[in-house]
Amino acid sequence: MVFGVGLLVNAILIAIPVGGSVGALMGLDAHRAATGQKPLFTGDNDDGINPGNGKGDDSTGGGGGGHPPITNNGLQHTLYCDLSWGITPPSETEQYTLNPNQWGVTSDSTGNGLCMNVTTFVNQTYPAQTAPEFSVTWQYDHGPETMPVHGYPNIRVDDVLPKEMDKISELNLDLHWTYGVGDKTAVSTDVQALEKENLATNVAIDMFLDTDANKAENGTQAKFEVMVWFWMSNVEAQPHGWGHPVLNRTLEGTKFTLYTGENDNGQKVLSWVPGSIVERFTGDIYPLITDLYNLEGDNYPAKNDYLGSLSFGTEVYSVDSNVTFWAEQYKIDIKS
Ligand SMILES: *[C@@H]1O[C@H](CO)[C@@H](O)[C@H](O)[C@H]1NC(C)=O
Ligand SMILES: *[C@@H]1O[C@H](CO)[C@@H](O)[C@H](O)[C@H]1NC(C)=O
Ligand SMILES: *[C@@H]1O[C@H](CO)[C@@H](O)[C@H](O)[C@H]1NC(C)=O
Ligand SMILES: *[C@@H]1O[C@H](CO)[C@@H](O)[C@H](O)[C@H]1NC(C)=O
Ligand SMILES: *[C@@H]1O[C@H](CO)[C@@H](O)[C@H](O)[C@H]1NC(C)=O
Repeated sequence: MVFGVGLLVNAILIAIPVGGSVGALMGLDAHRAATGQKPLFTGDNDDGINPGNGKGDDSTGGGGGGHPPITNNGLQHTLYCDLSWGITPPSETEQYTLNPNQWGVTSDSTGNGLCMNVTTFVNQTYPAQTAPEFSVTWQYDHGPETMPVHGYPNIRVDDVLPKEMDKISELNLDLHWTYGVGDKTAVSTDVQALEKENLATNVAIDMFLDTDANKAENGTQAKFEVMVWFWMSNVEAQPHGWGHPVLNRTLEGTKFTLYTGENDNGQKVLSWVPGSIVERFTGDIYPLITDLYNLEGDNYPAKNDYLGSLSFGTEVYSVDSNVTFWAEQYKIDIKS
């Protein structure tokens, strides 16, 4: 696929100021937005299983609880074990916010915890539409049945949204991720080995939509949550409406099936789930959105509704030993 010109994402050419109080403010702001539809966690990062190593801003722009970064060959690796912290690596082009986003962790949660390892270029010259590479190492025991999810560590596209859906023509992705047992990134996903560890997770893009542009940006207030899954590890991590397929759509050789339901917050959740693992995806996923507004009725968004937020990550339920999710490649191109 060609990542061409005239991109919405490319509209962001402003380097974000870094450091000191600006970093801290952005951290909080991004934290609020990136926590999604769940209750906001306190930003002070000192009540978790893995409390951060204190403050101290660094050139990744996130500051917060990030461990001191390790630099070599123009790459910088910074570890964030915070419950929630917006990390906005400085970039000369697109801006992204990463967040460990452990919204479901409470004082009753048990396990080794979760850390996000963010790789940034010291020179800040990322190729166009390319997000910083990151990995997430985690282990949590089963949560209560009413709250099985511990978090959604993710990367969110900043500034280009909200946009009316009929003003978007393509949503191109070039994606490669893996999951592996242990603390290191795996070259490919060994599904059987992960099954043995009882891994309950998904890998998915999470979007929020609403008639009101401001609500669409807010994961709590948006009427619709639309997800595109690339893996459901087991039925413990099933989507709302599981067992009642609504629609199928094949994209780039992958059959996605739509499931619909409602979450505790009364939001309509529309999830496209593939039949088996999709570690690599290159193509336009926008047909999965346009299909929705071709469906009639109040349960589906309309084409002049707004797409307010788009993130990519893994929903963390539980697993017996440490596992590592690796977003080896994430390119996104939202075309108008
Ligand atoms: C989103 O909406 C919730 C609930 O109305 C509110 O508490 C929260 O502050 C809003 N978040 C943002 C980032 O505006
Ligand atoms: C910036 O750094 C990265 C990582 O070291 C390198 O691959 C890239 O070529 C550099 N870009 C420029 C323009 O120097
Ligand atoms: C497991 O993962 C956690 C969170 O990333 C990390 O702090 C810990 O060092 C890892 N290894 C073990 C053996 O707990
Ligand atoms: C962070 O990721 C980099 C790149 O994959 C890796 O070299 C480094 O060992 C990782 N750091 C930790 C603490 O896992
Ligand atoms: C979609 O595919 C599933 C699985 O192959 C099948 O069971 C279902 O009947 C299909 N649904 C529709 C609406 O075509």
